[in-house]
Amino acid sequence: MRDRPYTLLSCSVSIDGYIGNGASRLLLSNDADFDRVDAVRASCDAILIGAATVRIDNPRLLVRSRSRRAERAARGLAPSPMKVTVTRRAELDAGADFFTAGDAEKIVYCASGRVVDARKRLGPVATVVDGGDTVKMSTLSSDLAARGVERLMVEGGAKVHTQFLTEDLVDELQLVVAPIFVGDSDAPRFVRDGSFPWNPGRRASLVDVRQIGDVVLLRYALSSRFEEG
Ligand SMILES: NC(=O)c1ccc[n+]([C@@H]2O[C@H](COP(=O)([O-])OP(=O)(O)OC[C@H]3O[C@@H](n4cnc5c(N)ncnc54)[C@H](OP(=O)(O)O)[C@@H]3O)[C@@H](O)[C@H]2O)c1
Repeated sequence: MRDRPYTLLSCSVSIDGYIGNGASRLLLSNDADFDRVDAVRASCDAILIGAATVRIDNPRLLVRSRSRRAERAARGLAPSPMKVTVTRRAELDAGADFFTAGDAEKIVYCASGRVVDARKRLGPVATVVDGGDTVKMSTLSSDLAARGVERLMVEGGAKVHTQFLTEDLVDELQLVVAPIFVGDSDAPRFVRDGSFPWNPGRRASLVDVRQIGDVVLLRYALSSRFEEG
């Protein structure tokens, strides 16, 4: 068993580099690309998002295509991948679609200080894991591997992206650029400040560029594990 899952980070950005407006869900894709993302989801064992994305976007994170759900079932898998989130404050609503949609297992990695509270609130709808005083994405990734997750899809938001990338835990980046501007410097960008392994001295490796209607998909290999993904 690998010490962490193959990790694919998938994100859509506006032309000016924003991933949302910070207040409500902002669609930064088109139907064909949503279908591509659906196929990527179907190929993964787990999907991870940050607690702010649970609160703001309220995503269901289910595989939409009936045939893909059936293919997963034929492989002995749940119709949709496990859902994973991470929180420090544990202010998550048990009625959010993240928890109520679909039968897949839901896991909440919670900082130690709020685990009791999180279990009270979310215990009936999710497995709450004590992530330690500070939840480290490397520790979380190892724990997911121990739970049988071989392929992990990270779907935002910016705080989560930043930690996975700065800790060098991402094998593949799929970045979609949507033909709109957000134009608000208070809105979340793809990542926050940090020390990233890719810089002018170590450039990331671009492996594919694909136009999908009015968006473009950029695919980067970020580790030597890329080929195995
Ligand atoms: N375009 C896209 O592809 C895309 C995808 C996803 C999201 N988004 C957008 O991204 C925005 C949200 O991004 P964001 O950066 O504000 O938030 P985020 O990354 O979704 O979530 C941040 C929250 O996750 C929890 N968290 C993160 N790291 C943690 C750690 N190490 N330990 C414990 N808890 C941790 C904290 O939750 P608590 O506050 O509960 O403690 C933190 O406030 C939204 O506007 C959303 O629409 C866009």
